[in-house]
Amino acid sequence: MIKGFIFDLDGVITDTAEQHYLAWKHLSEEKGWDFDREVNENLRGISRMDSLKFILNHNNISLDDDTLQELATKKNVMYQDLLNDITPDDFLPGAKEILTHLRSEGFYVALGSSSKNAKKVLEQLGAIGYFDVVGDGHSVAKSKPDPAIFLFGAEKMGLQAEECIVFEDAEKGIDAANDGGFHSVGIGPEERVGHAHLRFDSMADATLFEIKSYFKDLF
Ligand code: BG6
Ligand code: MG
Repeated sequence: MIKGFIFDLDGVITDTAEQHYLAWKHLSEEKGWDFDREVNENLRGISRMDSLKFILNHNNISLDDDTLQELATKKNVMYQDLLNDITPDDFLPGAKEILTHLRSEGFYVALGSSSKNAKKVLEQLGAIGYFDVVGDGHSVAKSKPDPAIFLFGAEKMGLQAEECIVFEDAEKGIDAANDGGFHSVGIGPEERVGHAHLRFDSMADATLFEIKSYFKDLF
């Protein structure tokens, strides 16, 4: 039976996928690297350092560890600056509705994000109160597609993976959820999250009613 839900943050609760893109774009322009939305698609769900390495690899550039750290920090300063503009109006359409619905029906709710800025984003949104557990980039060592962050959330809620539904917008996030034995809901296009057990184009379509109708034997 389903007792808990685990939500990714960036691209599921709010559209910070866009701010991540803008910060990487800014850094890439400054450094003269090739970077566009297509390259950016590969960064969904993966850690800051893995993202930087992906961009550098795409540009056939290799750098020493100190420079990598310095560049990752620089991107993060730009990203954090953009986060200051987030307000409680910036939930993705449908996100606040399902979180409110889950609260009123008494389900456990966890965040399962790769971001080390997740708490700041939740605070800016005023969303902390919707979560029983906050799993973020500080909670586990391995990033998606490893299921560690979702297993962390399930364990902290006192639940087994098969008792939880994971919401994700990243290809690697769905890989992580499926690999960990969770029920997965993909948010986004077929080519990105078509391997989820259930997929919606956007959070606006992902109502608790639709979820219960699909996973009817589990409620
Ligand atoms: C994920 C994003 O949620 O967090 C990735 O999808 C991002 O794009 C990752 O790289 C890490 O975020 P942060 O805030 O720790 O740099
Ligand atoms: Mg995401």
